[in-house]
Amino acid sequence: MKRILVTGSYGQIGTELIGALRKKYGGENVVATGRKKPPAILKEDGPYLQLDVLDTNQLHAMLVDYDIDIVIHNASLLSGTGEKNPQLAYRTNIEGAYNVLEAVRILNLDQVMIPSSIAAFGPSTPRDNTPNDVIMRPTTAYGVSKVFIELWGEYYVKRYGVDFRSLRYPGIISAETMPAGGTTDYAIEIFYEALKNKKYTSFLDKGTYLPMMYMPDCLKCTIDLIEADASKLKHKSFNITAMSFAPEEIAAEIKKHIPEFEMSYEPDFRQQIAESWPASLDDSVAREEWGWKPDYDLAAMAKDMLEKLSKKLDIKY
Ligand code: SER
Repeated sequence: MKRILVTGSYGQIGTELIGALRKKYGGENVVATGRKKPPAILKEDGPYLQLDVLDTNQLHAMLVDYDIDIVIHNASLLSGTGEKNPQLAYRTNIEGAYNVLEAVRILNLDQVMIPSSIAAFGPSTPRDNTPNDVIMRPTTAYGVSKVFIELWGEYYVKRYGVDFRSLRYPGIISAETMPAGGTTDYAIEIFYEALKNKKYTSFLDKGTYLPMMYMPDCLKCTIDLIEADASKLKHKSFNITAMSFAPEEIAAEIKKHIPEFEMSYEPDFRQQIAESWPASLDDSVAREEWGWKPDYDLAAMAKDMLEKLSKKLDIKY
């Protein structure tokens, strides 16, 4: 059985990814790490540790001590936070990924997966049905860091034979852990506010289409890519998507379940970020090379989110 170390394990994706990986590979084989101290309420289903990827000695020691084969490097500042502190985004996202790739190269580990994002694209990228291989030139600190990760990772494949893989996650919608400081966060906040207050003020304007995905699909594609046969992967960085919608469309979907729900719009600095990203993605390369196919569309996601959050918040609708 392979042993996997995950960084960013206490973030939005990490929290649920750890559970999914442990179910599949066994608790002891999945080492959860995060920059902050692990939350006290965690289950005793495997190791939860504190790790700062900027500390290369600690990183190398942990990879050796736990006999790690695969690293999933999720630790990252998101787009909104990156614009507030580009220097911190540089250190966390670029130096952090560099340290992880170097550790994987030096220790000769089996594989490294570092997510990319729709943010890796920019205003000069074709916005609709954006192809896998196209001009990128992002205009956010976060986006620039993701392009670095893709290109540096692919360089290590060619130069050193490192098995690097990357997914360009769209906005990820989930019920367990809130994201922090992203541009697609409105699509999660809206569910909490719809249940709690029956209204929501969106920080993105009407008509702002973005590619999105529900967490079960995010977990599925992450695990599928890790397990994909290396000889079939012609690319290393893949577009993946499940749906694309604008704020008024997710509002209309929620209204089907909560008829009193009202949406208003007060775009902030994230509007400009969203407008520099694709509205929808073409993920046919991922479908061809490793059989990617999502399960959730907007209607199925909204129904499940409301059910899960209504239980979690104990609010009926
Ligand atoms: N969800 C991310 C963000 O909004 C996109 O990768 O920053």
